Amino acid sequence: MMITIDDNRKQFHLTNGKISYLFHVMKNGHLGHLYYGKAIKTVGHIADFQRYDIPTPNTTHLEANDPAFTMETTRQEFPVFGATDFREPALGIQQANGSHISNFVFDSYRVVKGKPMLEGLPATYVTSEEEAETVEITLYDAVTDMKLLLSYTIFKDVAVITRHARVTNRGEATLILDRLLSGSIDFPHADFDMLQLSGAWSRERHLKERKLESGIQSISSLRGSSSHSQNPFLALKEPDATESTGDVYGFNLVYSSNFLAQVEVDHYEQTRVSMGIHPFGFQWKLEPGESFQAPEVVMAFSPNGLNGLSKQLHDVYRNHLINQKWLDAPRPVMLNNWEATYHDFNEEIILAIAKEAVDLDLDLFVLDDGWFGKRNSDTTSLGDWFVNKEKLPNGLGKLAQDIRDLGLDFGLWFEPEMVSPDSDLYREHPDWVVKTPGRSASYGRNQWVLDFSNKEVVAYLYERMRALIEETQLSYIKWDMNRNITEAYSSTLPAAQQGEFYHRYILGVYQLYENLTSKFPDVLFESCAGGGGRFDPGMLYYAPQGWISDNTDPVERLHIQYGTSIAYPISSFGTHVSATPNHQTGRTTSLSFRAHVALFGTFGYELNPLGFSAEEKVEIRKQVALYKQHQHLMLTGDFIRLKNPADGNEAAWMMVNETGEEALVSHYRILAESNPGKMKFLRLKGLESDAYYRCQDTEGVVRHYYGSELMYRGIPLKGEFNGANGELSIPMQIGDFQSEIFYISKEEGEV
Ligand code: GLA
Repeated sequence: MMITIDDNRKQFHLTNGKISYLFHVMKNGHLGHLYYGKAIKTVGHIADFQRYDIPTPNTTHLEANDPAFTMETTRQEFPVFGATDFREPALGIQQANGSHISNFVFDSYRVVKGKPMLEGLPATYVTSEEEAETVEITLYDAVTDMKLLLSYTIFKDVAVITRHARVTNRGEATLILDRLLSGSIDFPHADFDMLQLSGAWSRERHLKERKLESGIQSISSLRGSSSHSQNPFLALKEPDATESTGDVYGFNLVYSSNFLAQVEVDHYEQTRVSMGIHPFGFQWKLEPGESFQAPEVVMAFSPNGLNGLSKQLHDVYRNHLINQKWLDAPRPVMLNNWEATYHDFNEEIILAIAKEAVDLDLDLFVLDDGWFGKRNSDTTSLGDWFVNKEKLPNGLGKLAQDIRDLGLDFGLWFEPEMVSPDSDLYREHPDWVVKTPGRSASYGRNQWVLDFSNKEVVAYLYERMRALIEETQLSYIKWDMNRNITEAYSSTLPAAQQGEFYHRYILGVYQLYENLTSKFPDVLFESCAGGGGRFDPGMLYYAPQGWISDNTDPVERLHIQYGTSIAYPISSFGTHVSATPNHQTGRTTSLSFRAHVALFGTFGYELNPLGFSAEEKVEIRKQVALYKQHQHLMLTGDFIRLKNPADGNEAAWMMVNETGEEALVSHYRILAESNPGKMKFLRLKGLESDAYYRCQDTEGVVRHYYGSELMYRGIPLKGEFNGANGELSIPMQIGDFQSEIFYISKEEGEV
């Protein structure tokens, strides 16, 4: 039993031994928040958690004779605006008389084993009822005749609670919902730093940190996608928390469109975290009997710093969000032709590249953009998902067969949500484009967005993609999305429902994903949005891996991978070795440095292998073998960050299996340092201190160490200073962009 309920006190305690989450029904029938953090045993006196005794002359209160009972300073679970709480609420309903006030009071609850799914939305799930327990609280507002269902799930194996909310109009009147967040939680203090994953195209998810201040601080997206700029993730950490110590709370929205992640610090230094669909521009018409389901928010807690938080999030996403088929099944090591050829290819070139891919021991060839319509540049043909016969005269089915005959699987790039002004699809269906009547439609990468809120559009794309998947027997799809939505509007929605557009759009995207993944369960999907512009838990539900950035420069990727790993598992990172000098930065790096960065992900190549020397081919084969040897660690191990590239000239991290028996460790030194000192050590984590380990370095040299040596003294890194008398036996590292990889495995031996 993970959920215990004190019916007399109307108090709910969710605990799995790792975390506790407590709330209760207050005397006005609303839910008051009591505690969230490390697991506690409690005698349960409400007054020890929440006090109603701090009115000032300025405080408004709910009852005439009870000046201390106010929502203004009370910690709550799902606050509403307008009756003594002046902080931002979780919900707003516009009523026929123009009022937005509501008063949702406790009606009933039910506890269910496992976790019910959310209708139409991606969400975490369980494969057996034993893995989680859910409590659903029903609240009721008599004036609007509306039901509010708040759902809380606690998982057995992770320090995670998931929440969501659903409203149902039970009355006779039409209501307009203009705000329904997924969750809200109030902390009793504001002694936190806020972390966020922010960036831009080609530098996604850099970790940013700020001290909480009085008032509102938020991140959000109004782009119709979760965005390159802000990820739907935030964390609050104790100011002195580190990678391995201190309390950290993480919040992640399982959603891929406009979102708001907000922290409000009130005048008593209490902190409200709210997360959900961005209320700006949002409205949802609720006819009698209709419901609206908000997406799920994942809340993770760690008393062991950021690495601890990441472990909880990685575990919940791997075990309860991605398709379990892909949990530990080897992912194909691919060659993608984008940076090899861009749009400029033909059948001969593709087959020549594919032959090289076979020779390099790769598993999958992915044909990227340019295979359809008249697509020779990004100015045309999106939407015309028919093979370009000028480039591929024998058709796609034949090409796929030829590639399979070479011994590779075949994958294809699509950008299903888009249309080029110069396309047959647009000429046939001009009304399928997202644009506002009487106004021009803005451009992005010379393209427009298709109206995925229109079921006809989704059905058309499904048919087209289904036919192509069957024709080519695809085993992989890269689903791209290269521009954000402007002039949001659907010609299929009445004026009063245009506020529903963004959400209906993403529901259409989810529907197409759902239809394709259920029809073709063996096809591996990789999400992409101009790189990592829609890298979020909603996408992970359908696509277990995502292209994390269009920036393939390994130094840039250190920052992107570091930040992305705060919330997302390594097994979800699309990471490829690309050409040098790098196409985005012009930086020249060695093949081994590029591979050592890309190893921590799903690994592949995105370059033209035709010009490789025999030595380079040997090196690539070794890299592929190294990845395949350790792929199980990348899929199922614990990722531990050791050095943050933002702190200096180095980055380091490791993947260690659950028992601490084996690990793959990498260390990256970005720029050469002159006379940096005599010996440098990299201190590892997550090993058994008394165990005896075999440690094989990049060159294959084997040394043995105890776990305690590796963790407390550290692995000696290659030195740069060779000393006047040459006493250092460890080889020197010379030049910029150096890396070392160590494979560590427990051995019976000296103890
Ligand atoms: C986006 C993707 C790239 C590539 C191109 C093709 O930018 O992120 O990986 O597929 O589109 O046009």
